[in-house]
Amino acid sequence: MREHLVIFDTTLRDGEQSPGASMTMEEKVRIARQLERMGVDVIEAGFPAASRGDFEAVRAVAEAVSNSTVCGLARAIEADIDRTGEALQINQNVRIHTFIATSPIHMKNKLRMSPDQVIDQAIKAVKWARQYTDNVEFSPEDAGRSEIDFLCRVLEAVIDAGARTLNIPDTVGYTMPDQFGGLIRTLRERIPNSDKAVFSVHCHNDLGLAVANSLFAVMNGARQVECTINGLGERAGNAALEEVVMAVRTRQDYFPCDTRIDTTQIVPASKLVSGITGFPVQPNKAIVGANAFAHESGIHQDGVLKHRETYEIMRAEDVGWGANKLLLGKHSGRNAFRSRLKELGIKLESEEKLNAIFMRFKDLADKKHEIFDEDLHALVSDEAQIPEEHYRLLSLHAVSETGEIPFAQVVIAVGGSEKQAESEGSGPVDATFRAIEKILDSRAELQLFSVNNITSGTDAQGEVTVRLQKAGRIANGHGADTDIIAASAKAYLSACNKLHSSLERTHPQI
Ligand code: KIV
Ligand code: ZN
Repeated sequence: MREHLVIFDTTLRDGEQSPGASMTMEEKVRIARQLERMGVDVIEAGFPAASRGDFEAVRAVAEAVSNSTVCGLARAIEADIDRTGEALQINQNVRIHTFIATSPIHMKNKLRMSPDQVIDQAIKAVKWARQYTDNVEFSPEDAGRSEIDFLCRVLEAVIDAGARTLNIPDTVGYTMPDQFGGLIRTLRERIPNSDKAVFSVHCHNDLGLAVANSLFAVMNGARQVECTINGLGERAGNAALEEVVMAVRTRQDYFPCDTRIDTTQIVPASKLVSGITGFPVQPNKAIVGANAFAHESGIHQDGVLKHRETYEIMRAEDVGWGANKLLLGKHSGRNAFRSRLKELGIKLESEEKLNAIFMRFKDLADKKHEIFDEDLHALVSDEAQIPEEHYRLLSLHAVSETGEIPFAQVVIAVGGSEKQAESEGSGPVDATFRAIEKILDSRAELQLFSVNNITSGTDAQGEVTVRLQKAGRIANGHGADTDIIAASAKAYLSACNKLHSSLERTHPQI
């Protein structure tokens, strides 16, 4: 019997700490449902004490998810832990993850605490968290640069206090794989009560070693890996879930353990996260990049055609490529539509919402013959972004002609009234955004404009992400349409709606 490797996904917490990757509550719930469908053991849903938005999002995820443990992060401070316990109380299957830094540089310069004070606070925090749940995880932040004797003392003490998972973070992505593997082995050997806890790792990718470090740790006894979809995360990101899972699954001859991940859900999860955050996946990214299974050279193609395994160590369909089968077309009825949304784990709060999205599906099916799962996700994303649309695109007329200055005219509903403006620009998108700004006068700074084709073919919908920043608040807006100028206008307005909405929150910071 193989040992179980726990997959702890932190896309919604550390992933969201990627500059610009903030997500709305509804988007977080959608990602959480996909993680649950994929078989992730623990979903770290956020950091409830960071903001009201994070608190609400953790609570919403705890309410929506039943087959994965839902976890909230808290500093080793009673008030943070109380807030986390409160956000999670709606669900029985929860975990509190508390942390405090243990490296000399962090203790001296950031915490301004002595090592003994840090130990005391860590013990108090774990005991405090145990009031809410038996499932408590402790992280000595910056463990990769902590002194080994001190680390052993802290970890032994927190196990005695009731921590059941010990997570060893390489917070700044500094360690080398054999060094990090050795650290895990040493801790397990030297800490007298180490058998009472599961050892976990949380590696950052500053030197491009997050996955390698995690796998070395697994070979040295770690039985939980913290990771994110597409390797999203603070700075250069975290270990990519898809790479860790597929390395362990593909090399069962090498690893003594396996995960319970349904790998066919990996590509859909990657596309969902990329669409929501607007962070495109590089084409040559392992597992989830568009070229990950594409063979260009004649020799390779010939080899694969003769015998697939000559050049392929995994099957594209096993990680979910090609799983987005053609399913619906313009003759599909409401019931087929409803049941496909259900299969995709998309829950709509009302019959009106379903009707609205169904109408848009019909419009899309008129323009585009084949509707894929990604198209449905984009439609839902477009429709369900915010509770109420303060700004709504009523019409757009954009002109782009060789030798002429691009021009756009927009009509927008603002609250109850209709406003019109026109503008020239360096291209039709620029002209459209300028015309919108003439009406909205948002003065927000455009931080990102990205266009992705949702599926292949020239009739594909373009999914546009616009990231706006204003007064320290960041909002990602999405728009999907077969006309990318219209998709751009929708994305711009959706970001403005989020900035306008009082529910939008600031980007959480630790
Ligand atoms: O990188 C880190 O140290 C963290 C901890 C909070 C686990 O994200
Ligand atoms: Zn981290």
